[in-house]
Amino acid sequence: MSEESFLVVTELRAGYGGAQVLHGLSFAVRRGEVCAILGANGAGKSTLLRALCGMVRPRGAVRLDCADLTGRAPEAMARLGVAHVPEGRGTFTPLTVEENLRLGGYRHRRRADVEAGLRRVFGYFPVLEDKLREQAGSLSGGQQQMLAIGRALMLTPRLLLLDEPSLGLSPLVTQELFRIVRTINEEEGTTVIVVEQNAHLALENAHQAHVLETGRIVLSGSAAEIKADEQVARSYLGYRV
Ligand SMILES: Nc1ncnc2c1ncn2[C@@H]1O[C@H](COP(=O)(O)OP(=O)(O)O)[C@@H](O)[C@H]1O
Ligand SMILES: [Mg+2]
Repeated sequence: MSEESFLVVTELRAGYGGAQVLHGLSFAVRRGEVCAILGANGAGKSTLLRALCGMVRPRGAVRLDCADLTGRAPEAMARLGVAHVPEGRGTFTPLTVEENLRLGGYRHRRRADVEAGLRRVFGYFPVLEDKLREQAGSLSGGQQQMLAIGRALMLTPRLLLLDEPSLGLSPLVTQELFRIVRTINEEEGTTVIVVEQNAHLALENAHQAHVLETGRIVLSGSAAEIKADEQVARSYLGYRV
């Protein structure tokens, strides 16, 4: 495994009750990279992110920056810099935009750090500053996704886990979101794992990619390699290159 590997996942197994969903995944993500996880519905992509953020208890090993995180609770994962933006966003819709963002920054002890966090988020998503006092539930789908990512950024994460940010959004809004995620990755060096059904878009914006099929990695490579392999694109990704 390369020295620069930031996240190292070894033989990861996880599931729900007696039902095993992930059957021994091994992969590594380098520091500062965007890693795309592709695969059909039900392949286990969301379960993988849940296992990485502690929502689902895994077996195997998860190491972040050499620290063993296997089986830690979500609260501990958040403290160690892992932020999860779940499928369906997970914003608190009755609360205002500001309340949602401040909740995201709960870990900061100093008021100044919370304020600095808010300014950072507004830099990426100016629309959230305009809508500060509005209920999260009144925002458009794209704005709610921005809020969900903004809330995760309030943690100043080292590892950002994004679960299908494009779900239900127009292609234009999705493009814009991915552009901003790339900017965050480039400006802050945040390592990102993004789960996406839109393989083309994900590969355009990722360094590495892994394809999941029924809880196993069936293909790994650089985004460029995977994109360039027409056979692969047809058999696994369901689109023509
Ligand atoms: N909360 C849950 N309880 C039980 N089974 C689940 C739960 N979430 C997902 N599953 C099952 O785990 C498998 C993988 O689901 P998931 O990780 O959501 O896949 P994906 O995100 O790739 O669509 C599916 O068979 C799904 O039915
Ligand atoms: Mg999913």
